[in-house]
Amino acid sequence: MFDTTSLAHLPKAAQYQALATQAHALMAGEHNLVANAANLSALVMSSLPALNWAGFYLFDGTELVLGPFQGKPACLRIALNRGVCGHAATTRQTQVVPDVHAFPGHIACDTASRSELVVPLLYQGKLLGVWDVDSPELNRFDAADQAGMEALCKIFLSSLLPESIRS
Ligand code: SME
Repeated sequence: MFDTTSLAHLPKAAQYQALATQAHALMAGEHNLVANAANLSALVMSSLPALNWAGFYLFDGTELVLGPFQGKPACLRIALNRGVCGHAATTRQTQVVPDVHAFPGHIACDTASRSELVVPLLYQGKLLGVWDVDSPELNRFDAADQAGMEALCKIFLSSLLPESIRS
């Protein structure tokens, strides 16, 4: 149906350019949140090097609840005052954490994770959830990853319709 390949051989800007094109193609005409979230997780995980987890936590009005993802089974619920995900959600700022062991309150879902990037997802000004990627490498994510992941999140958010969002 849709073939993904490793983009590891490309410079980061080109990796994210290719991913953005592929994400647009994957979501074209589809507005279902779970379907598009699941495919974005699979696309990123199968294309980018040195990731051990990529996926979503969705805000249920109280806390973050595990959504579509790729990687090892993860914590089901994260309170807004906990972890890198909770911090991204409450500050509404992308968090780039070069060393998760140095982040107070980091939640270790997969003990292999050493660095992490979390993008808050806002839909029409409201918190929808967060996009979370983890790496087994220290300092895996930089400003290019932040810009690239934020652009992918924008593509995901613009695929949604108000009725795509429950609650
Ligand atoms: N490390 C995250 C928890 C989610 S897992 O990494 C999948 C955090 O501290 O919020």
